[in-house]
Amino acid sequence: MSAPSSAIESTLVENRVFPPSEATVKAARISGMPAYEALCAEAAADYEGFWARLGREHLQWTKPFTQTLDESNAPFYQWYADGELNASANCLDRHMGTAAENKTAIIFEADDGAITRVSYKELLGRVSRFANALKALGVVKGDRVLIYMPMTIEGVVAMQACARLGAIHSVVFGGFSAKAVHERVIDVGASVVITANAQLRGGKELPLKAIIDEALSMGGCEKVRNVLVFERTKTACNMVAGRDLTFSQAMQGQSDHCEPVAVGAEHPLFILYTSGSTGKPKGVQHSTAGYLMWAKVTMDWTFDLQPSDVFWCTADIGWITGHTYVTYGPLAAGATQIIFEGIPTYPNAGRFWQMIERHKCTVFYTAPTAIRSLIKAAEADPVVHPDRSDLSSLRILGSVGEPINPEAWMWYYKNVGGERCPVVDTFWQTENGGHVITPLPGATPLVPGSCTLPLPGIMAAIVDETGNDIPNGSGGMLVIKRPWPSMIRTIWGDPERFKKSYFPDEMGGKTYLAGDGAVRSADRGYFRITGRIDDVLNVSGHRMGTMEIESALVAKTDLVAEAAVVGRPDDLTGEAICAFVVLKRSRPTGEEAKQIAKELRDWVAKEIGPIAKPKDIRFGDNLPKTRSGKIMRRLLRSIAKGEAITQDTSTLENPAILEQLAQSN
Ligand code: WTA
Repeated sequence: MSAPSSAIESTLVENRVFPPSEATVKAARISGMPAYEALCAEAAADYEGFWARLGREHLQWTKPFTQTLDESNAPFYQWYADGELNASANCLDRHMGTAAENKTAIIFEADDGAITRVSYKELLGRVSRFANALKALGVVKGDRVLIYMPMTIEGVVAMQACARLGAIHSVVFGGFSAKAVHERVIDVGASVVITANAQLRGGKELPLKAIIDEALSMGGCEKVRNVLVFERTKTACNMVAGRDLTFSQAMQGQSDHCEPVAVGAEHPLFILYTSGSTGKPKGVQHSTAGYLMWAKVTMDWTFDLQPSDVFWCTADIGWITGHTYVTYGPLAAGATQIIFEGIPTYPNAGRFWQMIERHKCTVFYTAPTAIRSLIKAAEADPVVHPDRSDLSSLRILGSVGEPINPEAWMWYYKNVGGERCPVVDTFWQTENGGHVITPLPGATPLVPGSCTLPLPGIMAAIVDETGNDIPNGSGGMLVIKRPWPSMIRTIWGDPERFKKSYFPDEMGGKTYLAGDGAVRSADRGYFRITGRIDDVLNVSGHRMGTMEIESALVAKTDLVAEAAVVGRPDDLTGEAICAFVVLKRSRPTGEEAKQIAKELRDWVAKEIGPIAKPKDIRFGDNLPKTRSGKIMRRLLRSIAKGEAITQDTSTLENPAILEQLAQSN
């Protein structure tokens, strides 16, 4: 378990409490703690009845379900299994003939500031036309479609069009390398790839299609019949005859009506790869109904969504947050949402605040890393400070992806929220589908750095290795004791790994193990997440497996003999990646070490993507190992942090190596 950073440690003494204002409580959907407690009591009294009610109230079914939860093949739980529905119909068609029909669904702001608005009706037309294009290429229910797209309306259209046909999308974040794309194309068995010629970020045009071409040329991708290319810019890209089509070619002559394909509730809506404890990313498989129900309910509960809201989640559609709180939740809830193509620091670091003012954003949801970098920018240059923009439209702020340190929380609360907007620190994971532990804006008294309490129906607890409850005030492992509808269904193609990763036998095989450490406060029972307990790092809110980076490093077989990767706290990115490397040649020093470190960083960027580049690379003659040959990572963590080694090193085979590694920075 990695040690918390000093900033996070300060949450241990956090005792400031910010209750919601009376007006906020009064206006909220879940109004006050008694309303929250009533929902929890409803779930406790009749667990299945509670979820059945939400399933009926929040989704439109073509065939209503009669069973709620099937636990007969635990931990492969099924929810609403005999019901049928279509996810895209639940995001778009449901609004036709209602007040939302002509409402703006998406306000798109491009990297260069150009603004496009699309109504629900128009969006339905575009999704339908694109779905017809996919259909014409032979895409049918159950096919896998890999999406590698920039943040654009078309990215959302592509995902929704797959859902409309019952095809299973697998979105790969645009920052992953050709090698990473290749691995996912093969693992998921994609028959179609959807991409763009390029993406625009920070005034730069970066190629996307070229990366797909490279990935598909790596071999084993024969299943991919077609590549659809959105022409984001005028720059020409290579088009393979008979395989590649532009969006306009594919959509030409297609009708803007496409009957949604009804699928079973448990039909996979998507597969999203995330990092785990081993070198191979996990294809997290989500269901259609349970997932979508929770996306919709959490929009209503956590963000207290009202018809007049302008919602903005800054996450990329390549991550789970972008799936649930860009592509599905806001549309299912009938919200107007902002989609932003660019980066928060272009043309300057006031971009987010200026956009909030420009679009009168009311609910703003972003990551602590972004907040921390914008604090730094605002301190350096008052012109990009949030006080230069009119942020009075805001009413709720959200945080996601990593622990938010109280200092950043307070700055966000004061300078962005004007001490008026509740900050919902939402804890959840790719595997959870939607929020699981979070404050409710019109109910929960807030404590900076704490995600507070589980949502009604989520049976979160903190336990020891054998699943016994740990008293408040002591740390342990975060678990969820009962299945819930939006949970991961399996790891695509690897049900054994699913069981082993999330439902340890030592805990009885039915308790969901989150992989995070947590502690509940002695007074309120509030949860505070202390960080991953496995070999997963959280860098700028992105999940990275240490083993994945190690595998990438040792794949440079001409140079690297051995590598170990650990995290160390970083004020800006939360955690930073540190690699300890043993070369096949003698240990380099000085300029030469710098040169080789750069070479290795570029190599990792090629193997996985720029987000996985180690910040520190240290070279040693070997690595600290036990006599049985196991790398002692806890020692490496201390060295990475620059700490004196206080741990017991008696089992260490080669103690002198510690000194060498400590000095090799
Ligand atoms: C971390 C992102 C503290 C945690 C939605 C989790 C958080 C991992 C929070 C999942 C939070 C996410 N406070 N830690 N509010 N939200 N995490 O799958 O370690 O990309 O296990 O999902 O991010 O990352 P993932």
